[in-house]
Amino acid sequence: MKPILVPLLVVLVQSCIVRTTPISEEADNVFLERYALSSTPNIVEADGYPFENYYVTTGDGYILNIHRIPFGLSGKKNNKVAYLQHGLLQSSSDWILNGPGKALAYILADEGYDVWMGNARGNTYSRNHSVFDPNTDSRFWQFSWHDIGVVDVPTMIDFVLEKTGADGVYYAGHSQGTTVYFVMTSMKPEYNSKIKAQVSLAPIAYMSHLTSPLLRIVAFWQKPAVFLLDLIGMDEFLPGHGFMSMLSSKICTEGIGSLLCSNVLFALCGFSPKQMNTTKIPLIMANTPAGSSTKQIIHYGQEISSGKFRQYDFGMIENRKKYGSIWPPAYDLGKVTAPTYLIYSKNDWLAATRDVEQLYKELGSPKAKFLVSDHMFNHLDFTFGKDAPKLVYSKVISLFSRHN
Ligand SMILES: *[C@@H]1O[C@H](CO)[C@@H](O)[C@H](O)[C@H]1NC(C)=O
Ligand SMILES: *[C@@H]1O[C@H](CO)[C@@H](O)[C@H](O)[C@H]1NC(C)=O
Repeated sequence: MKPILVPLLVVLVQSCIVRTTPISEEADNVFLERYALSSTPNIVEADGYPFENYYVTTGDGYILNIHRIPFGLSGKKNNKVAYLQHGLLQSSSDWILNGPGKALAYILADEGYDVWMGNARGNTYSRNHSVFDPNTDSRFWQFSWHDIGVVDVPTMIDFVLEKTGADGVYYAGHSQGTTVYFVMTSMKPEYNSKIKAQVSLAPIAYMSHLTSPLLRIVAFWQKPAVFLLDLIGMDEFLPGHGFMSMLSSKICTEGIGSLLCSNVLFALCGFSPKQMNTTKIPLIMANTPAGSSTKQIIHYGQEISSGKFRQYDFGMIENRKKYGSIWPPAYDLGKVTAPTYLIYSKNDWLAATRDVEQLYKELGSPKAKFLVSDHMFNHLDFTFGKDAPKLVYSKVISLFSRHN
């Protein structure tokens, strides 16, 4: 069989093949017009919460935008600082789009937390650099989530600690927001003491059992062929028409399915109709995908193929120069010694239960793991799901409150 047919076959086999009705361009424009101005600062203000905006420049020149909700509407203050880190192709908006009383950032603020939301390099809010222009300079995009873990997150946490005078943060991460936590605390173990407690939502480290058909395609070409890069973008991850139509005709269902699948985030992660609040779709579409480098995607593809949780694979020759060995070094999860909790779900296309269980076993100080009781709960339901407050966020609050 021709190699190209294999991943396509995977797509066909793994999906219920239902023809898609393409959304009309007109409908697209209506959404864009209505929500073009929506962004984390605007939405937080519209929701009536206090909002503060900060910039911090990393040692390697990336200008990162941090969003803060210093307190909630209840007026309660518990002198604790929460730090929230978003997932791949997402942004700080992950933590607010579910709305007052339903989104994690608002719930934490109402519980008395001072809430800070990081934005990783390359996303909508952190698409800036002191030297490189992201629009014209390929050098801006030469990073993967490794760099977000060893540079961006530590820089943002130090900034937050300096501004607040706190001695540690309560960290909640979703998806890539958990990967970068494991990278940070294993590569820079001194950061463990700056974490009071960490809750990983849909944790991602090992990925060999993942079911996302689209990511399997990327994984197949782990040594990125020009063909693949052409489809998904050489520097910035910008899936072109070819890539999107390849998947939209295969993995998307009628109605909301086809609409959501026009968004690469949902195409990668899937969705569960029961958890999706259809009224919110335009707002979610306006805020995602929020941007990432192609290397972030390729690095995940490497995890899928290798079955390992390790640094970026530049190829044997470059690896030898960079790491002193032909294979990239693995992240030592035993060095993750801050109190860490994992919340995962059965229908998660990215964080497969077997992979999460392996991660849990290898962590230096795992406290507990919880499987979400709704077995249809999916990867993105951790941020957008109707039942996320009940099934997930109430747990986050109670786990944080165990630590002082
Ligand atoms: C990038 O950061 C510089 C320095 O802070 C600022 O002057 C400029 O306006 C920013 N550009 C964008 C597009 O945000
Ligand atoms: C769905 O979203 C709308 C609009 O934000 C909101 O008013 C409604 O309460 C949400 N429904 C549920 C069940 O969360």
